[in-house]
Amino acid sequence: MRVLVTGGAGFIGSHFVKRLAGAGAEVVVLDKLTYAGNPANLEGVDAELVVGDIADVTAVERAAAGCDAIVNFAAETHVDRSILTPQEFVHTDVLGTMTLLEWARAHDVRYVQVSTDEVYGDLEPGRRAAEDDPLRPSSPYSAAKAGGDLQVLAYVRTYGVRASITRGANTYGANQYPEKLIPLFVTNALDGEPLPVYGDGKQVREWLHAEDHCAAVELVLHEGRPGEVYNVGGEDFENLEVTNRILELTGADPGLVRHVEDRAGHDRRYAVDDTKLRELGWVPSHSFGETGLPSTVDWYRDHRAWWEPIKSGSYRAYYDAQYGERLKA
Ligand code: NAD
Ligand code: TYD
Repeated sequence: MRVLVTGGAGFIGSHFVKRLAGAGAEVVVLDKLTYAGNPANLEGVDAELVVGDIADVTAVERAAAGCDAIVNFAAETHVDRSILTPQEFVHTDVLGTMTLLEWARAHDVRYVQVSTDEVYGDLEPGRRAAEDDPLRPSSPYSAAKAGGDLQVLAYVRTYGVRASITRGANTYGANQYPEKLIPLFVTNALDGEPLPVYGDGKQVREWLHAEDHCAAVELVLHEGRPGEVYNVGGEDFENLEVTNRILELTGADPGLVRHVEDRAGHDRRYAVDDTKLRELGWVPSHSFGETGLPSTVDWYRDHRAWWEPIKSGSYRAYYDAQYGERLKA
């Protein structure tokens, strides 16, 4: 099988490329190498890298030629950046998705859209979103991802494209760009820098290991039904619980925790019902507390050479815009 993996130089996409290539598939990666794309994530991996934009028809044609399937991980992914610069999110997450769907339609290839549980918006305690729940996105990021999902479903219904959607929970593991909660807090803790907790820190997220997320996407690629959506859940914790576990595992000073001004429009809680995926045979292999978070902290401790160069240059400019005033207040 020859598979086009878009966004394959990013965090979850690179885990997926390693998984497919390791199983003997031919893999082509199409990646724009934005700030979040990093060829080092694919070092030593047997995959062809095409540098280009998923919203550029010519780049898509070049990368997708001869492929039997497209798995779309490419996206602008960070909520805080979507609040600062929403335009890029519509370009990639909506228009880019549609450009890939056009190729899938014209060449009748299998398509999997990697989406997020954030499209359901926040849920009151006790509720879990099912796949047919209404989409109520809160941030420019989740609104753009919801727009991509709707394009996929329209292409299934109108043109018969063989597409499925996965909606994964908050994902963590090695090689995650240090802007999201876990890699930001782990690397800051290792450097003795503040851990900026938004608001009261009692927001709840479900945590899913990248390898379990990729196992789910691979299962859906092979066994998922066209037109169907599959939630991929994780283990739920309040942000402060995650923060405290990170302090324990890094041995950092609890005085580093700083409650700062909350994120605009901050969703309080995400939770999904993933029964449908489990019925397809998915069983996660990591436990957040026992294996997942400890091995992730170890990876960042052992791979300073991966993240130290990232945390300079344009990262610094973003960090100052996002946290400068918050940490001064
Ligand atoms: P990431 O930000 O680490 O990587 C995104 C990749 O896409 C980068 O390599 C980037 O260069 C590439 N890219 C961005 N715009 C592009 C474009 N226009 N054309 C081609 N490539 C482009 O993202 P991630 O965390 O690995 O997320 C991957 C996918 O999984 C996304 O679709 C995201 O919405 C989804 N997802 C992520 C999470 C999470 O917690 N990280 C959870 C659920 C779903
Ligand atoms: P994040 O990793 O950005 O993922 P998402 O917003 O997509 O869920 O954030 C996870 C949670 O952590 C979310 O409730 C926001 C919170 N958070 C902080 O408290 N401080 C931070 O600096 C960041 C990046 C996130």
